[in-house]
Amino acid sequence: MPDHPHHAVRTPFVAGNWKLNLDRQGAVQLAAAVREHCEGAGLGVDVDLFPPAFYLDEVVRTCAGSPLLVGGQNCCEEASGAFTGETSAAMLADVGASEVLIGHSERRHVYGERDETLHAKVLQALDAGLAVMLCIGETIAEREAVQTEEVCGRQLSSALAGIAPERLTRLSIAYEPVWAIGTGLTASPDQAQAVHAYVRGLYAGLVGEDGAAAVRILYGGSVKPDNARDLLSQPDIDGALVGGASLKPELFLPIIDAGKS
Ligand code: 13P
Repeated sequence: MPDHPHHAVRTPFVAGNWKLNLDRQGAVQLAAAVREHCEGAGLGVDVDLFPPAFYLDEVVRTCAGSPLLVGGQNCCEEASGAFTGETSAAMLADVGASEVLIGHSERRHVYGERDETLHAKVLQALDAGLAVMLCIGETIAEREAVQTEEVCGRQLSSALAGIAPERLTRLSIAYEPVWAIGTGLTASPDQAQAVHAYVRGLYAGLVGEDGAAAVRILYGGSVKPDNARDLLSQPDIDGALVGGASLKPELFLPIIDAGKS
């Protein structure tokens, strides 16, 4: 395995996925606390917040003029029309989101989103000018059947099939083993690093070596202040996508700081 000469150019990236939590006031207060922490000069970590869609507008305004970015947790695979209850990528962009999560395990496994649908969502997001954080990861049954690489590879290549590498410069990838999400079970740094290195290699086959050296691959699944530093010090782990611990400043802010090299 060659060294990663471009590792240094990958700015660490810590993101908070708030899922279906908080109310309007709690969302604004949490964003304000993260903002205050991140405004110091020279943080050296990119920080994204993914609030519930309904609070995006207000969280974007709370973060305006700061280094924080704000994104949506999901978008519709269609641009517009008779799709009751959906939110389009263009609507997310319209209220100031700069990014969107696509293919989160809860979308795949709770809502049954399939690879073809996720591919359509990636296209919608790119058309709307949003950066995409593509989430991939295996279930415990798939890991035990030694299918982790196959599953992650299929999820990655099907979501990005036929998309020109030039359109993917703002893509990031989040590896979130389903068995580690919200369970308190974390992939060990070595387990996560092995999958990240595999995914980076696979991505090189899709977009070329330069794109693969530049893409940030985040780990997600029970990231906490006490395991963040070990995970983030792995050569192919460029950041963390944090669920539960992103809802409390006393847990999330130390994880951001763990991203500082
Ligand atoms: P937890 O950090 O709560 O395990 O959630 C991870 C996740 O799903 C982030 O998208």
